[in-house]
Amino acid sequence: MTISTLIIGKNGKTGRRVEERLIAAGQETRAVSRSTSPAFDWLSPDNWLEAMQGCTRAYVCFQPDLAVPNAQAAIAEFIRQAKIAGIKHIVLLSGRGEEGAQQAEKILINSGLDWNVVRASWFSQNFSEGFLIDGILSGQVALPSGDIPEPFIDVDDIADVAFACLTQQSLVNQVFEVTGPEALTFNDCVKIIANVTQRDIQFMPISAKTFLSALAEQGLPEEVLWLMNELFTVVMDGRNRNPQNGVEKALGRPATSFYDYATKAFASGVWTLPTPAAENN
Ligand SMILES: NC(=O)c1ccc[n+]([C@@H]2O[C@H](COP(=O)([O-])OP(=O)(O)OC[C@H]3O[C@@H](n4cnc5c(N)ncnc54)[C@H](OP(=O)(O)O)[C@@H]3O)[C@@H](O)[C@H]2O)c1
Repeated sequence: MTISTLIIGKNGKTGRRVEERLIAAGQETRAVSRSTSPAFDWLSPDNWLEAMQGCTRAYVCFQPDLAVPNAQAAIAEFIRQAKIAGIKHIVLLSGRGEEGAQQAEKILINSGLDWNVVRASWFSQNFSEGFLIDGILSGQVALPSGDIPEPFIDVDDIADVAFACLTQQSLVNQVFEVTGPEALTFNDCVKIIANVTQRDIQFMPISAKTFLSALAEQGLPEEVLWLMNELFTVVMDGRNRNPQNGVEKALGRPATSFYDYATKAFASGVWTLPTPAAENN
């Protein structure tokens, strides 16, 4: 029987990379999100079974975050339908220090399916592919919690660990708490990126209230505002400051440093500012 891997989050930072690794290894994949056919939307459980058909294992990246109040119910329903579809093994991307995420992990661990939890720290790629890229490009990153250290992880490491979990039977039924090798503040990260890009980029500490008001003005959905408040005022209190060895445990090699991530991101051109000539075209 062909083993096909369902990937929830085709266009996401980790899902895209997990799919690349499986395809490079000659494996069948079905990577889905709201914009694929079949489509997968966490808000439309009636359509999940269609996406699951023919798959025997799954990489699951929930949206927007396992910390949100409806996440546990969604994961429980996903597992119920996965069993009907014949999925035998689920690798769940989770977050650290979040009560809701821990509950969702427990639901999977007790499901009777083969499982893995890849419990990740904040992604380094938030600075190059996520909500912090605009600040990097504009030269000013304004955030609350500037002095709380966090061991940011390179999502290429997360994808390597998820791929290993999906393809190596010896890793099944384990939690891998994956972080970068060093705890850095947002301010430290901005300084490293400024150094790598040779640009003047400043970190500006602001209050959580100012930060959330700015997000609200951008028209972000209520759920995302709730999440940002939770992440910056509750979870980002230093509880996650200690690096963990999940990358080494799964892969037998150290996690990528933030400096190496920044060097790689810079080389990809993602932080290259448009030249005036290009802007006029
Ligand atoms: N960012 C971090 O630092 C961090 C740290 C630890 C854990 N995590 C976990 O990583 C996951 C998300 O990571 P991310 O925020 O960086 O996003 P992401 O993986 O980059 O995924 C973004 C993609 O998700 C898809 N999507 C959005 N809403 C969806 C929905 N309702 N149903 C299905 N697909 C949807 C969108 O593609 P379409 O438009 O095609 O649907 C979008 O392109 C969360 O589970 C979070 O807990 C994140």
